[in-house]
Amino acid sequence: MVKKLIRMALRSLLDEMVGVGDAVLLEPLSENHFLENLQLRFQHDEIYTYIGNVVVSTNPYKSLPIYDSEMIERYRGRNLYELPPHIYSVSDLAYRSMKNYGRDQCIMITGESGSGKTEASKLVMKYVAAMSSRSTEVEKIKQQLLQSNPVLEAFGNAKTNRNDNSSRFGKYMDIEFDFKGDPVGGLITNYLLEKSRVVRQAQGERNFHIFYQILCGASPTVLKKLKLDSVEKFSYVSPGDANPDDAKSFNEVLSAFDVIGFTRAEVDSVLVLVAAVLKLGNIKFRSVAAKNGMENCGIVNREDVVDVCEMLSIKSQSLTSALTERTMTAKQDTVTCTLSANEASYNRDALCKEVYDRLFTWLVNRINSSIKVPSQTNKKCKVMGVLDIYGFEVFEHNGFEQFMINYCNEKLQQIFVELTLREEQEEYVKEGIEWLHIDYFNNAIICLIENPHNGVLSMLDEECLRPGDVTDSTLLAKLESVCGKHEHFESRRATKFLADKTLPHDAFRIQHYAGKVTYFVENFIDKNNNSLFRNLSNAAFLSAHPLLGGAKGLFPEGDPSITVLKRSPTSAFQFKASMSALMKNLLLKNPNYIRCIKPNDVKRSSVFSSDLVRHQVRYLGLLENVRVRRAGYAFRQKYEDCVTRYKMLSPNTWPLWHGAAKDGVKHILLNVKISPDQYEYGRSKIFIRNPRTLFKLEEHRAAALHDVATVIQKIWRGFQCWRRYQLMRHAQIVISKNIKKYQNQQKYMRLKAATLVMQCYIRGWKVFAFVRLVKFVSKIKILHWVKAKYYSASKPLKKPSQTSETPQARCLLRAHKLHKLRCISVSVIAAHWKGYKTRLEYRKFFRANAGKVVARFMEKYLVYRYFTKLQNTLPSYSPIEKKWPACKYRFLQAAHPLLRDIFHRWRCMKYRKSLTPQRKVELTEKLHASNLFKGKKSSYPTSLPKKFVGDHVTLSTNQKWQKVGAGGDIIFADEGFKIHRANGKFVSCYVVLTNTSLLLLDEKTVKQKCHVTADDISGISFSPYQDGMMIVHCKPPMDSKKHKGDLILNVAHSIELATKISLLLERQTNHKL
Ligand SMILES: Nc1ncnc2c1ncn2[C@@H]1O[C@H](COP(=O)(O)OP(=O)(O)OP(=O)(O)O)[C@@H](O)[C@H]1O
Ligand SMILES: [Mg+2]
Repeated sequence: MVKKLIRMALRSLLDEMVGVGDAVLLEPLSENHFLENLQLRFQHDEIYTYIGNVVVSTNPYKSLPIYDSEMIERYRGRNLYELPPHIYSVSDLAYRSMKNYGRDQCIMITGESGSGKTEASKLVMKYVAAMSSRSTEVEKIKQQLLQSNPVLEAFGNAKTNRNDNSSRFGKYMDIEFDFKGDPVGGLITNYLLEKSRVVRQAQGERNFHIFYQILCGASPTVLKKLKLDSVEKFSYVSPGDANPDDAKSFNEVLSAFDVIGFTRAEVDSVLVLVAAVLKLGNIKFRSVAAKNGMENCGIVNREDVVDVCEMLSIKSQSLTSALTERTMTAKQDTVTCTLSANEASYNRDALCKEVYDRLFTWLVNRINSSIKVPSQTNKKCKVMGVLDIYGFEVFEHNGFEQFMINYCNEKLQQIFVELTLREEQEEYVKEGIEWLHIDYFNNAIICLIENPHNGVLSMLDEECLRPGDVTDSTLLAKLESVCGKHEHFESRRATKFLADKTLPHDAFRIQHYAGKVTYFVENFIDKNNNSLFRNLSNAAFLSAHPLLGGAKGLFPEGDPSITVLKRSPTSAFQFKASMSALMKNLLLKNPNYIRCIKPNDVKRSSVFSSDLVRHQVRYLGLLENVRVRRAGYAFRQKYEDCVTRYKMLSPNTWPLWHGAAKDGVKHILLNVKISPDQYEYGRSKIFIRNPRTLFKLEEHRAAALHDVATVIQKIWRGFQCWRRYQLMRHAQIVISKNIKKYQNQQKYMRLKAATLVMQCYIRGWKVFAFVRLVKFVSKIKILHWVKAKYYSASKPLKKPSQTSETPQARCLLRAHKLHKLRCISVSVIAAHWKGYKTRLEYRKFFRANAGKVVARFMEKYLVYRYFTKLQNTLPSYSPIEKKWPACKYRFLQAAHPLLRDIFHRWRCMKYRKSLTPQRKVELTEKLHASNLFKGKKSSYPTSLPKKFVGDHVTLSTNQKWQKVGAGGDIIFADEGFKIHRANGKFVSCYVVLTNTSLLLLDEKTVKQKCHVTADDISGISFSPYQDGMMIVHCKPPMDSKKHKGDLILNVAHSIELATKISLLLERQTNHKL
């Protein structure tokens, strides 16, 4: 299955791709070829191309069906080269690298304005959000992170000539994940909002989206509350710029506020501030000639001032004077002067820009407080940073903002060069890998801008802080004198550029990595100073508006109680510091790059402007990037990491490898049978040349993980069963303990009750015996007295009692008997009563049928005992054995003899079955003999043990007999005598019985002397004595022949002969002798 997937993936990358999916595979490698490849792919809607693991993204300027959830699933967990290049692939790589290796990641999205950075950052966030789990808590955080985009875009994006949704601020978002890879929060850092856009926009550009969104999207009630009207009424926004999408976007922003967790009051406050900026922008000033001849100003439209004051809860007078006057403090003296109309307008614009800028920073902080990671989970978090910062900008008129933006891009280019090009080469050298050096554009230009001693930024700051007359021209002069000799700095004063008409006198030019840019110095000092007149900050501080006023408001420095004001850091200083913090942050993380390319300047989907793209390819250093990747190795990893990840691929390294990590990697590669030309051992890393080698390793790993999972499953299940068994065992012990306890308690209670009863009886009996003794003694005494008084001549004894006479004695005796009777009755009643009470007491311990159950059990038990005993004492299996064990149980007396009979029949049957057919015949004959002779003939007992031989004289083998052939089979043959009835003479002969007749043969000649057919034999007579005499009764012949009479024979085996004759007759004639 894994192999199939890999094969599919390779096919999709190599066979079905348009052009070349990875520029590393370009052949031949040239700038033109690189551009052609990009163009070909762009024309086929293949907007992503790899350079190793860097994704080059060309803005398609149309929505493509390649971002749906199916696509996300397709790229989930797949290696970079398995599927066609996609932004999801690099997102997946970063996400998995963070989740699996625990390395913080950053995704740097760079490119010029309109190249698609913001869209790319949203796609990365979408992918990462889809990767994590769907629990309610995680879903909430994901939504908050995603919904921060519409809010920040509404307030920080605007339409420019290069991009309809241009980010006018830099954004770096850290998304924090727990160990499971679920987002737990985030942190957004914003950089330098282009606040000048609030008051002025270039031709064809728009103000920030939020102004249009409120004006077009808010309901009439809200608009009334915000004291707003239609778009054309406001000077900061031009009417033709609004578009129908603004209303829709406003609702999206409101719902995004809701999702992030803004309260209703917070949203209202934000909208009021935005509306107030719009209203402030409408305030107009007119020139008024003062008495001293100076130009003062007055407010043209006071009703707007009143509206703004009402909205911001500021006193009208306070705002008016803040806008039209300036108070200066010199030592102890405070001087207030009125401003000219122009100065007042500048003042108003400064206030609007500042309010909007600080409102934007407040929004970012407010979003951060919602998406902040709870402090207890913070430690374990892994971070993925997404950097979407303004792209390189070259306008007709480039000012302070463009200078800062391009400086930022220089920094990012520097980090890219540092990490991908320089570090790559340095790493090969460091690791001792053979390497051919590749030259690359080193943007050392950065020094020109940020050098602390003679950089442009330092000069700018120095000029701003310098006392005396400081203007933009003095700044330019300073720059020319300090930086003039720098090879990337150009100014008209330098002799080299004196004749260069393209370079105006009030501008300087810097040769950036992305090209030369001319910056006009106008407003550089002012914008860098970043200071608001104190009158304005005072007025804002005194506002009762929840966001604007107060110490926690947007203008804390306006507190009138603060007399000594610290100069606020310059914009350049702040920006430089934030850039340096950003770079540090990025350098700590594993970088992933998305290099965005803008295909044309007309925002059209099908136009590919080769020159424009060539320019971007050059300054982004993409070709150098390809060269480095081609010459190098596709994949490298620390030996330790490699062993940790692939240790299951070799029996030597699994489950633990204790040796040197490098040796472990050697084992793994040997075991997976990777060809040695596919990798190189560095000092601390393994370098794998071809991505396919990596796939192979991953493929083996995936297969091995299945086995590992099975083992883990096995152990876990075993553990669970063991634990369950332990629980059951424990439970069983507890149950049996309790049952035993209960049983013993019951037993004890019974014993105790029985002991009490016995005690009662014994005590009662003792008392009774004592009383009887006492009574007996008193009775003896009375008898003695009676005897002495009435029957003895002796002097009567003294009567036992003074009143007793004979009748009285009788009465006494009667009373004594009665008492005795009563005592007995009492004992009987007491015994019954106690019995009854005991039964009553113990009844509850027995079930109604306990007796029956016990009896049944006893019965079964006794039967069991009886059978086991019987089994052990069974007599021998001989049928004539007479012995049978005794039974001591009366209730089995009837069954016992039956069992004996059954047993006897069974052993007879067994005996019978063991007999051979011949033996069976013998025994049948013996049985027949027994029926005939038992108890009738005294020689029978002696004949019993003798076998019935049949042919005693072996006549059947006699040749004469065979010749004579008297016919029939011999059943019996023996020597014997025929006795003449007339003279009683004994004539010896053979007495033979065949299966047809009885024959008498001459002993010598074996001739027949007499022949009697079996049918003719009617009976046989014997004497009861020991002799062998027998009379064979023959039937008289049917014809007239003379009846020869019966035969008198004397045969030694007469009993055998008679038995066989009888059996023969029974078989043949079916009648008994
Ligand atoms: N992947 C994409 N699919 C479709 N359209 C895109 C894509 N990327 C960019 N676009 C189009 O290009 C426009 C400009 O993109 P985006 O705003 O992301 O540029 P940017 O690089 O952020 O510019 P800036 O630096 O001015 O903020 C978008 O509004 C959108 O219409
Ligand atoms: Mg953008």
